[in-house]
Amino acid sequence: MNIGIIGAGSMGSGIAQVAATAGEEVMVYDTNETAIEKAGTSLTKIFARLVEKEKFTQNEADDILGRITFVDSLELLENSDLIIEAIIENLEIKQSVFSQLEKIVSDECILASNTSSLSIASISSACQHPERVIGIHFFNPAPLMKLVEIIPSITTHTEVTKNAKTTIDSWKKVTALVKDTPGFIVNRVARPFYGEALRIYEEGIADFVTIDAAMKEIGGFRMGPFELMDYIGNDVNYTVTETVFTSFYFDPRYKPSFTQKRFAEAGLLGRKTGKGFYDYSEDSIRPKSSDDKPLKQLIFDRILAMLINEAVDAVFWQVASAEDIDLAMRFGTNYPKGLLAWCDEIGANKPLSILENLYQTYGEDRYRPSSLLRKTAKENASFF
Ligand SMILES: NC(=O)c1ccc[n+]([C@@H]2O[C@H](COP(=O)([O-])OP(=O)(O)OC[C@H]3O[C@@H](n4cnc5c(N)ncnc54)[C@H](O)[C@@H]3O)[C@@H](O)[C@H]2O)c1
Repeated sequence: MNIGIIGAGSMGSGIAQVAATAGEEVMVYDTNETAIEKAGTSLTKIFARLVEKEKFTQNEADDILGRITFVDSLELLENSDLIIEAIIENLEIKQSVFSQLEKIVSDECILASNTSSLSIASISSACQHPERVIGIHFFNPAPLMKLVEIIPSITTHTEVTKNAKTTIDSWKKVTALVKDTPGFIVNRVARPFYGEALRIYEEGIADFVTIDAAMKEIGGFRMGPFELMDYIGNDVNYTVTETVFTSFYFDPRYKPSFTQKRFAEAGLLGRKTGKGFYDYSEDSIRPKSSDDKPLKQLIFDRILAMLINEAVDAVFWQVASAEDIDLAMRFGTNYPKGLLAWCDEIGANKPLSILENLYQTYGEDRYRPSSLLRKTAKENASFF
């Protein structure tokens, strides 16, 4: 297949690597010459390292790199079967690129966006044929993260969805089909991992390191919420939360945190600036977590209950199937278990009673249990 990629930034070049590795012919277009040069150099370096690590032979690496062409004119993408746009997150600019593309490519070409926060419906509205437009959402870094969310909009043709899914599956990715709703699956369902951890800290229940330790030691999460926010970057993570919060008409479940906002404002972005919730300088010593086991259990139970409630509510609103929600959280965020399988394991009554307690204690809508969680608990039912 001929694949076109628009945007040679971190996502565009990662997606190009994935597609070319899967045997596709890839053309990458960017308006910025420096971005093209940088992407070319970085891909060459990546493949040199992969050859060194014996993941590929030199010949294989040369073949893959040989299948990626960088171009400086959109017209050269005319023979594409699928185009994935990964440019700046700006609706007007994306709409303009999509309407230009429609004039260049054949009627059969699928036009996809890698947007994280815009609706596919809004991007496709600029097209004469919105039925060929779909969301194909990779995670960063695209070559390493297995999950890809496939997002048909209300106008996407079912054949387009089927073909997009088949293609991405053939690139050895795990696909999850999701409705065109804010945050799709992962950026919606993962919110409480950060939000409830920040809330627990803000209430003075525990410090960063104890909250992180609770999630890792009891839950088996690879990183605690504060470590993960530092890894993602407090600026990026805060913006995602704020966007989801705004898109859900200010639902208090997604309310952003002043703590994180101040860290972002102060430039304490995390690993990339050397300091965030933790200090990443070489001689820094990480504070010790509390050894209060019941406290850690309470923290873990509260965050997990909020996460399960979010996953269950996504099933309730038919955002995606239970299977796809669990796949998305395992492969898009590396959670140790799917949240719905976790709910089945501990029984829906447990998260429900934790949420009911929190709701009573605080009187905040933030802690309202999903009606599907109530129903599942009442009927003693399970998701799988
Ligand atoms: N970075 C992430 O973690 C991540 C994850 C998933 C999805 N996304 C989404 O992917 C998209 C790209 O993100 P990124 O992090 O790769 O950004 P980036 O800033 O690294 O790269 C964007 C590239 O697009 C180019 N560009 C801008 N306008 C263009 C135009 N009109 N035509 C062609 N090229 C143009 C820029 O020169 C730049 O090289 C965004 O929609 C973002 O929301 C990002």
